[in-house]
Amino acid sequence: MDAKSNGFDRVAGVYDFLAQLVLGKAIQESQTFFLNDIPDGSNVLILGGGTGWILESLLAVKPNVKVCYIEPSSRMMALSKQKISTGNIQFITGTEINIPQSSAFDAVITNFYLDLFNNDTLEDVLKTITRNLRPQGVWIATDFIHPKSLWHRFLLKMMYGFFKVVAGIQATTLPHWEISLERHQLSTLRTQLFYSGFIRSKLLRYEPET
Ligand SMILES: C[S@@+](CC[C@H](N)C(=O)[O-])C[C@H]1O[C@@H](n2cnc3c(N)ncnc32)[C@H](O)[C@@H]1O
Repeated sequence: MDAKSNGFDRVAGVYDFLAQLVLGKAIQESQTFFLNDIPDGSNVLILGGGTGWILESLLAVKPNVKVCYIEPSSRMMALSKQKISTGNIQFITGTEINIPQSSAFDAVITNFYLDLFNNDTLEDVLKTITRNLRPQGVWIATDFIHPKSLWHRFLLKMMYGFFKVVAGIQATTLPHWEISLERHQLSTLRTQLFYSGFIRSKLLRYEPET
């Protein structure tokens, strides 16, 4: 999906229902697993937050964080704003290229976002994000992993087919997002698997060479 596309507008109203139908409790459990590891008072960047339920979950455990919430779909954004009336949140309808200049985030959350890009684009996306992340900042990344089981392979293929047609996502297959994060000097602190090993949530720390 290009920077200006609102591809997810079409599915915004049913996105959470569909995600839960296919992936069950894992969709929320995986995304909330490491939220408590975000340091209190952090300046947090959320990219591709979807309908915004993650904001409620984050503020429930970390009420003192400041959030920059970036989401290109105006319908997803409208749903996100409806959910939250308190908290220190900056809503930006846009993509990673709209991250406010010279930001210094303490934490980044990308859930089912890195899988939208092909391997080449992902390199640029990660470059853009890390430019705005403080050294030693944390990153929560939750996404599918390259499936071994036939069922998971089938599911992944169906999902990529569906979101290609409906939302116009760029990727046609799962990029090597874990390798790309490592290449951008994000070290894994902890990981947790969900949905019988189809989804992995990672807590990472940004350790750039000085
Ligand atoms: C697969 S959905 C995941 C939504 C949410 N993270 C969840 O798991 O419930 C991907 C979301 O990323 C948004 N998105 C797509 N391209 C983006 C980009 N370049 N920057 C930020 N968000 C993007 C879409 O509009 C959509 O809401």
